[in-house]
Amino acid sequence: MLSSIILAAGKGTRMRSVLPKVLQPLGCRPLLHHVIATAQSLSLRQTIVVAGFGIDAVKASCAKMDVSWAEQAQQLGTGHAVAQAIDMIRDDETALILYGDVPLIHAATLQRLVDLVDRDHPLALLTIHLDNPTGYGRVVRNKSHKMLSIVEEKDATEQQKTIGEVNTGIMAVKGINLRRWLANLKNSNAQGEYYLTDVIAMAVEDGFMVKSTEAMNEMEVLGVNDKIQLASLERMLQQENVTQLLKAGVTVLDPARCDVRGTIEVGMDVSIDVNVVMSGKVVLGNNVSIGAGCVLTNVTLGDGVTLLPYSVLEDCVIGADSRVGPFARVRPGTVTQDHAHIGNFVELKNAQLGSGAKVNHLSYVGDATVGAKVNIGAGTITCNYDGVNKYRTVIGEGAFVGSNTALVAPVTIGAGATIGAGSVVTKDAPEDKLTLARAKQLTIDSWQRPVKK
Ligand code: UD1
Ligand code: MG
Repeated sequence: MLSSIILAAGKGTRMRSVLPKVLQPLGCRPLLHHVIATAQSLSLRQTIVVAGFGIDAVKASCAKMDVSWAEQAQQLGTGHAVAQAIDMIRDDETALILYGDVPLIHAATLQRLVDLVDRDHPLALLTIHLDNPTGYGRVVRNKSHKMLSIVEEKDATEQQKTIGEVNTGIMAVKGINLRRWLANLKNSNAQGEYYLTDVIAMAVEDGFMVKSTEAMNEMEVLGVNDKIQLASLERMLQQENVTQLLKAGVTVLDPARCDVRGTIEVGMDVSIDVNVVMSGKVVLGNNVSIGAGCVLTNVTLGDGVTLLPYSVLEDCVIGADSRVGPFARVRPGTVTQDHAHIGNFVELKNAQLGSGAKVNHLSYVGDATVGAKVNIGAGTITCNYDGVNKYRTVIGEGAFVGSNTALVAPVTIGAGATIGAGSVVTKDAPEDKLTLARAKQLTIDSWQRPVKK
């Protein structure tokens, strides 16, 4: 059985932010959420988060997650932090200790670590060799490579500081042993803290061999302490995400200028131009092409959809073979069927467009049901809001709405109807007929231009 304890009590002073450190966003999600998600991809009995600074905000951010909480009111060290959760750990299970500010750890690495723990080896440590180990706890081994202890940088001798193998902080420990070792921790060290790392020497003293495994790369175990490290981790995460896209066969014109800040599913022969930002859940069908500068948040694009540059789409579904943009804005609740055209400077909100419907220029279509093959002329506005309430506009199949029409909702345009340009339509328009709602054009024969006095 396995439980995870995630240390997340620190303030993160160097972030210079009111937000607790573990809530700083990486790839649009709090650092802590990355750690929880990775931990929960193993089969865990429970995930315990040790929170302290900003505990209410930290708890609130995890409201929809399956986590248990322990509080560390005062940050007296990593050992003290784990001790706050120990009562929730069973004797016969393994506790996997993770850091809320080490977000890019891989599940495979954690599984490898957990698999080292058994009855004769109650403690396993994740380490890594670094060219520059400054700041980290060093792994002290004897001549036959047996691990003896961890020594913190501030407590290390000059000789020990030359050791390149460091403690990542991540470890897996049997509950029964962890409970006993934590109870014996002392804070007689340079920082006056209860160091979790002291359990290594305790295990050795109890006659156990401490096993270890190395992280695959440094990125996995990098901690975040300031905005510089946060920015560099963001780049690493983006590089990793875009590499996944390339491996899946997506053509990414410049891998350094494509951000995936959520999850993405892709079909075959997808192409993504530069400076595209995708957040939330994005699903791209086969042969989708995304132009430069597009921003997509929770969007599904059907097969063969073309997004022309600088289009912004949120919470919407675009049907197969549709064309959107350039400079289109598609807002939440919009669903189009196949072969829809949404052109430049068009805003759609909670609009349902039928197959082959076209809104090509300079229009606002909100709270509207638009039938198949409807053509909405340039500058058409659905007046959906009376200042208090919102109303729907319904446009029947095959209708033609002339340019610069105001459709004052609630209003229905019948199937096959034609609305003359410049109309202000306040009453329903019948099917298959021409409806005009505008002043008649007059020519005044007797009119003369004024002359200067
Ligand atoms: C710790 C390790 C060090 C290791 C390094 C890896 C100890 C004593 N040292 O050092 O060997 O090389 O991590 O990054 O464990 N935290 C709490 N409560 C506390 C103290 C810390 O929740 O009372 C949390 C912090 O918010 C942070 C994590 O534990 O997420 C690590 O604490 P930090 O103070 O950064 O430890 P280091 O000095 O970096
Ligand atoms: Mg640290």
